[in-house]
Amino acid sequence: MKGDRTRAKQEAGQSAARVVADGSVVGLGTGSTAAEAISQLGERVDSGLDIRGIPTSHQSRRLAREADIPLTTLADAVPDIAIDGADQAAGCDLVKGGGAAHAREKIVDAAADRLLVVVDPTKLADRLDHPVPVEVLPDARVPVETAIEGLGGEPTVRSAVQKDGPVVTDNGNLVLDCAFGPLDSPGALATDLDGIPGVVAHGLFVGLADELHIGSPDGVERRQC
Ligand code: 5RP
Repeated sequence: MKGDRTRAKQEAGQSAARVVADGSVVGLGTGSTAAEAISQLGERVDSGLDIRGIPTSHQSRRLAREADIPLTTLADAVPDIAIDGADQAAGCDLVKGGGAAHAREKIVDAAADRLLVVVDPTKLADRLDHPVPVEVLPDARVPVETAIEGLGGEPTVRSAVQKDGPVVTDNGNLVLDCAFGPLDSPGALATDLDGIPGVVAHGLFVGLADELHIGSPDGVERRQC
């Protein structure tokens, strides 16, 4: 039910936001669940919490500004903690990039001392099988598609919804959604994708998460990675 899922996202986001300690630099993820964390952090800032946020997208920057969260950059600070959503989680391995923000998310999440992942239960799977978003330089689209087909994937250029043509990321690139079927070895595929010239970033986040906050209408389950 839609209401239950919305409540689950709120619970997950709020739970992770409560973990953030005074004085922290916080990576601010992208998506509807991370937005709940940003909103809760804004309320805590209103109540006196001293933090600085590092956004991962235009969306999270806008939400942080609306919530009066002071911002900084990776050039000026190292994130103590990052809070981010996911499109699928198997154990603590993730597929991300549903909002086409995975390049900056990966940079900020990897730089953080701790990554808290906020999800509702629909995101949980025994094995990752969600199509893997791959951000690609526009000029490299065709050779990257060929290389991905060589790895057994079926790439599809992501189309925009309220714009004719493809999705263009915050970085000016295209996104290929790549169906690989169930992944036996996400780490090996991540390494293969990293090696393709023209790939800016892919949505496999392997070995990055420290803790999952799984929301439900009744509360939150926290799983350590
Ligand atoms: C954006 C992401 C998001 O974190 C992911 O798509 C989950 O979003 P939501 O919380 O709205 O389901 O990776 O690139």
